[in-house]
Amino acid sequence: MSAHAAPTPMTSRPCGPLKGVAEVPGDKSISHRALILGALAVGETRITGLLEGEDVLDTAAAMRAFGAEVEQVGPGEWVVNGVGVGGFSEPENVIDCGNSGTGVRLIMGAMASTGITAIFTGDGSLRSRPMARITDPISLFGATAYGRDGGRLPMAVVGAAAPVPVRYELPMPSAQVKSAVLLAGLNAPGQTVVIEAEATRDHTERMLAGFGAEISVEDGPKGRVITLTGQPELSPQDIAVPRDPSSAAFPVCAALIVPGSDITVPGVSRNPTRSGLYTTLVEMGADISFENERVEGGEPVADLRVRASNLRGVEVPPERAASMIDEFPILAVVAANATGTTVMRGVKELRVKESDRIDAMARGLQANGVSIEEDQDTLIVQGMGPGNVPGGGTCATHLDHRIAMAFMCLGMAAKAPVNIDDGGPIVTSFPIFETLMGDLGAQIVRANR
Ligand code: S3P
Repeated sequence: MSAHAAPTPMTSRPCGPLKGVAEVPGDKSISHRALILGALAVGETRITGLLEGEDVLDTAAAMRAFGAEVEQVGPGEWVVNGVGVGGFSEPENVIDCGNSGTGVRLIMGAMASTGITAIFTGDGSLRSRPMARITDPISLFGATAYGRDGGRLPMAVVGAAAPVPVRYELPMPSAQVKSAVLLAGLNAPGQTVVIEAEATRDHTERMLAGFGAEISVEDGPKGRVITLTGQPELSPQDIAVPRDPSSAAFPVCAALIVPGSDITVPGVSRNPTRSGLYTTLVEMGADISFENERVEGGEPVADLRVRASNLRGVEVPPERAASMIDEFPILAVVAANATGTTVMRGVKELRVKESDRIDAMARGLQANGVSIEEDQDTLIVQGMGPGNVPGGGTCATHLDHRIAMAFMCLGMAAKAPVNIDDGGPIVTSFPIFETLMGDLGAQIVRANR
C-alpha cells in the first residue's frame, strides 16, 4: 500500500487493569520468508498462521508478479505453488512493497541472481530508506541497480543472468541484508558465504534448511559463518507461523505498566535471536512466566503470563540490540514508567527503520513530560516511576507502525490521554491491534469517530 490513505489520528486514554488472553498475529519475519521460499520451491507449500498485515500481503502480491501462485484458502491459511530456484519470471509492472523494508530487501535478493529486471517502489517511508546495503552485495553476484540519489526507491534491479557465488561480511547487523545475500546465493552455482559479527534473527537459515537447502552455520573468528550451496531444488513445506514476539511486546509491556493487569499471550516465538526484550524486562523486575515451552514449526514457542510489575531502570548492553531491534520503542515506554534511568546503547540502526525511531521516541516522550537524552547511537530515558508519566501530548508517528503502537501503550498508563497523529500504519504488522487491546481493557479511540 504505497498511496497512504488520509491520516488516522488516535487517542489512548488511561485505563483500568488489562485482563484476558491476547492472541497476537503471526510473525512478520517468518511470514515474508514463508511466502518467498514457497515461491522458490517446486510444488505446493501450505502456510498456517500467516500474518495478514499489509507488509506481508504486499510480499504475497509480489510473489504472484514473479510467477508463483499464491492463494488464501482460509483465515491465515495460504497455499503457494512455487516456480523453483531460478524460475522467477519478469514482473509486468512495478513491484510496490508498501511500507516493508523486509519485503523489498528480501525480494531484491531473491531476484538478483535471475536474468530478469524488476522495478521496486514503496510508500513515503520506504522510499526514504537506504537500499545500498542490498545493492552493494547483490552487485557482487552480477546484478545492477539503478535507484534515486542515495540509493533510494524507486529502483530498477537488473538481475545477473550468469550469477557468481559471493563471500560477504555484513557491514551492519542486519537480518534483511543477510537474508538478501542468502536468497541471491540460492541461484548462484557453488557456495555463498555470509559472515555476521553479531547474531541477527536466523529465520532464513532455519527455513532454508527446512526446505532442503544445504546450509551450515559455524562460529568463526569473525562471528557466525553461514555457508549455502547454490542451485538446490527446494521441496515444498507445511509451515506453521508462530505468533510474533515483536507484536506480543505491545500487550506484554502495556500489561506490565498498567496497575493490576494480568494477561496471557499464547504461542509466542521464543527464538533466542528475537528474545532480547524479554531478557531485559525480566532484568527490570517484570513478572513474566514462560509456560508450556515447546517447539512448533521448527521454532521454540511458549505461552506468556504477564502481571503488572514495579520496574527498575537498567542498562541494555549493545550486544543485545540486534535481538530486540524492533522493541526499543516500546521499551522506551516501559522505561518511562520504571524507577531510575534506562540506557539503551548500540541502537543506531533505529535511525534507518520505518522512521528515525530514536528521534521519534525522543520527541514523543518529551511531548508527554518524559526526560530523555539521545545521541547518534544511544537513547537514555529517565524513569518517572509507575503511573507518573503526565501524558497529554500528541506524537508524530512518521508512517511507523511501532511508534504508533508504543505511544498508544504510553497513554494506557499515563495521567492524561496520549494522542498520535496517524495510527494508519498499524495495519502493516498488527491489523487487530485496536480490537485486541480494547478486548483487554484499553481505551483507544479514533479522533474521527
Ligand atoms: C527483519 C530484520 C530487521 C527488523 C525488521 C525485520 C527481518 O531489520 O528490524 O523489522 O525480517 O529480517 P534489519 O535487518 O534492517 O535490522
